[in-house]
Amino acid sequence: MSATSATSATSATARRPVVLIAEELSDATLDVLGDDFEIRHCDGADRSVLLPALADVDALLVRSATKVDAEALAAAPRLKVVARAGVGLDNVDVRAATQAGVMVVNAPQSNIISAAEHAIALLLAVARHVPAADASLRAGEWKRSRFGGVELYDKTLGVLGLGRIGVLVAQRLAAFGMKVVAYDPYVQPGRAAQMGVRLAPLEELLEVADAITVHLPKTAETLGLVGEAQLATMKPGALIVNAARGGIIDEHALYVALKEGRLGGAGIDVFTTEPCTDSPLLELPNVVATPHLGASTAEAQEKAGVAVARSVRLALAGELVPDA
Ligand code: NAD
Ligand code: MLT
Repeated sequence: MSATSATSATSATARRPVVLIAEELSDATLDVLGDDFEIRHCDGADRSVLLPALADVDALLVRSATKVDAEALAAAPRLKVVARAGVGLDNVDVRAATQAGVMVVNAPQSNIISAAEHAIALLLAVARHVPAADASLRAGEWKRSRFGGVELYDKTLGVLGLGRIGVLVAQRLAAFGMKVVAYDPYVQPGRAAQMGVRLAPLEELLEVADAITVHLPKTAETLGLVGEAQLATMKPGALIVNAARGGIIDEHALYVALKEGRLGGAGIDVFTTEPCTDSPLLELPNVVATPHLGASTAEAQEKAGVAVARSVRLALAGELVPDA
């Protein structure tokens, strides 16, 4: 065999980097990855499937159901990049990844509009009892007096976390005629004022808001930030929405406040443990709940998939991955 044919035989059999897609991602993700990688799929939520599947992978793509912790990283000796097709990184142990020399990328802009719109959908659905009224009508009832609601106009909205999504929600609900107060110690008051938002301490926000919406990351500081004591200071009949992460509002304390009629209602997209089909919150008529659907739009999933696929291509080529 000549030197030339030996070289081409080697390149023909050269190992393509292995990309493991551990959750359902958009077709656009695969389009961007193309044929340069060996693409595999697995159910990342099932540890008995995930851990062995990691043995020879170069890149791992996940949404929020796959826990990329120290154990998972140890099971992936070739891993170079973990790509989170979405915003929150609370399911990825970034510190352990960094120690293992594994890059972590996410898609921080991809689903923010979808998440903001979903939070607003939940707030409107709670304020006007949309799901309960729909179920009642489908059951053959015509009960107009049972489903009296409240207007958002001229009410005060409290935004916990004035980041990308919090700002989008504030802007959109300001257009509904709501006054917006926000709690976010990392935002300059001048920047908030430019958006027509008044910053306030958490204690004050809880007391003045007619509706509160949570847009915080899940961290050691935010877990349980809205607990029994905080819920007790909210206005009677106030509404609360959490489309950020389960556990930022204490679920049991919220259940009690709603059950006792101290709060008007809650819109919940996220739960402390997911999947969740047996939360006591789901038994309450003044709760509207969805199964973590904030980012579940065609647009958001396309943007997330394209963003992480591009980052994975760059990372596996050893190139700089720009901030998304
Ligand atoms: P972001 O980083 O742009 O904004 C978060 C804001 O929270 C920042 O302004 C930050 O200063 C503030 N913050 C952080 N710690 C705080 C603390 N201890 N007290 C008060 N403020 C604090 O993030 P984002 O894009 O707005 O997303 C927010 C969260 O929403 C994500 O971390 C993710 O968990 C969640 N999310 C959920 C869905 C969904 O499907 N339901 C979709 C997208 C994002
Ligand atoms: C996110 O943080 O991006 C959301 O929770 C959406 C998702 O996990 O898909």
